[in-house]
Amino acid sequence: MDKLRITGGRRLSGKLRVSGAKNSALPILAGTLLSAEPVKISRAPHLHDVTTMIELLGTLGADVTIDEKLNVEVSACKLDQLLAPYELVKTMRASFLVLGPMVARFGEAQVSLPGGCAIGSRPVDQHLKGLEALGAEVVVEDGYVKASAPRGLTGTQVYMDIVTVGGTENLMMAACLARGVTTLQNCAREPEIVDLGRFLQTLGANISGLGTSTIEIEGVDALHGGTYAVMADRVEAGTYLIAAAATGGDIELIDVDPATLGAVLEKLQHAGAQIQTGETTVSLDMGGSRPIAVDIETSPYPGFPTDMQAQFMALNAVADGTASIKENIFENRFMHVQELNRLGASIELHGQSMAVVHGVDRLKAAPVMATDLRASSSLVIAALVAEGTTTIDRIYHIDRGYETIEEKLQQLGGAVQRVS
Ligand code: UD1
Repeated sequence: MDKLRITGGRRLSGKLRVSGAKNSALPILAGTLLSAEPVKISRAPHLHDVTTMIELLGTLGADVTIDEKLNVEVSACKLDQLLAPYELVKTMRASFLVLGPMVARFGEAQVSLPGGCAIGSRPVDQHLKGLEALGAEVVVEDGYVKASAPRGLTGTQVYMDIVTVGGTENLMMAACLARGVTTLQNCAREPEIVDLGRFLQTLGANISGLGTSTIEIEGVDALHGGTYAVMADRVEAGTYLIAAAATGGDIELIDVDPATLGAVLEKLQHAGAQIQTGETTVSLDMGGSRPIAVDIETSPYPGFPTDMQAQFMALNAVADGTASIKENIFENRFMHVQELNRLGASIELHGQSMAVVHGVDRLKAAPVMATDLRASSSLVIAALVAEGTTTIDRIYHIDRGYETIEEKLQQLGGAVQRVS
């Protein structure tokens, strides 16, 4: 099993191109099932989760080809089976996003209940409630969600009880082919939802209200083919910015959308970073100084993202002062605390959703273990600052979400090696 070996103490410095967004590529690939014509996706990141989604599309019977520039072309003219098996869905929760498109287009789908990162129970009740409102009959049997709508879906008003990214995406895709108008209320407003919506519009979907909490979709008979480029990965971008800040470094990110990074850039400024943004660039300069502790509270977009909570905790671990971190989205997303403390951090947990981080002068290398995707990137950041050489085990978690992380960090001057 691969490990990362990181020798800390070097300031990250240099220029980095940001990859396409995993959390946008996954729903977009699921959305290709809505069209019978070829759909070409560019800038999908080269990541394990993306490969899993491509494998799932292939298992369902779609033709998937990847060219030399890593453009993915999906042709789902017909499918061989309308069942997404446990083996694929258990490894990645986003596989559940094929449910809406399949029911909408084929009137039937069976999808295993999802797995993914072990960061809480993560139910799918809102996805199911919405599909039922659109006229699908839904049963949960033998670990599978079985949905059918032999006469198609019908537009309606759906109020989601909680703000859910995946729920909004699944229902938005299903509604594209429903008869009449669907109004989704209390929608998530994440940039990845806007990106998915723009992709669907490229294929001829009628969607308005993207980026607001009310999305209206007027169903069409069919979506056509098209070509779409996935947006930049704001979580990857934020992770490298936080890593650079923790090491006192200076970096410039290119091919990024600064507007999607608002809350993170503001917190980095409070931590003492000089930030400059261009149309598609963000630069950060810490001027060699130690970060200042900053309180964080996660909330749905445009609030501070839960996907960057762990990384900011690593920054606070070496900051001057004490900071509180409150996690409001997931119930079990502090698994990195124990590992950060192994590296010499001083973090106390107060219940399941609050951590208090007392910044320390220095961290010291130790063997640590990645527990979930974003938790593992916090260990990478801590290791980049720690004295000595840290080995991070189970980095398959990192490979789910970060394209060639060791190469990108090496490019910034980090002493990082992948070993097996
Ligand atoms: C997506 C992101 C993930 C991010 C999360 C929150 C993808 C592939 N993944 O995950 O990286 O951390 O958004 O920004 O885009 N919930 C319910 N019932 C539902 C659906 C969700 O109770 O039907 C709860 C979940 O348990 C969780 C919260 O709502 O506590 C948010 O989940 P959701 O926004 O759906 O996250 P995902 O779409 O799974």
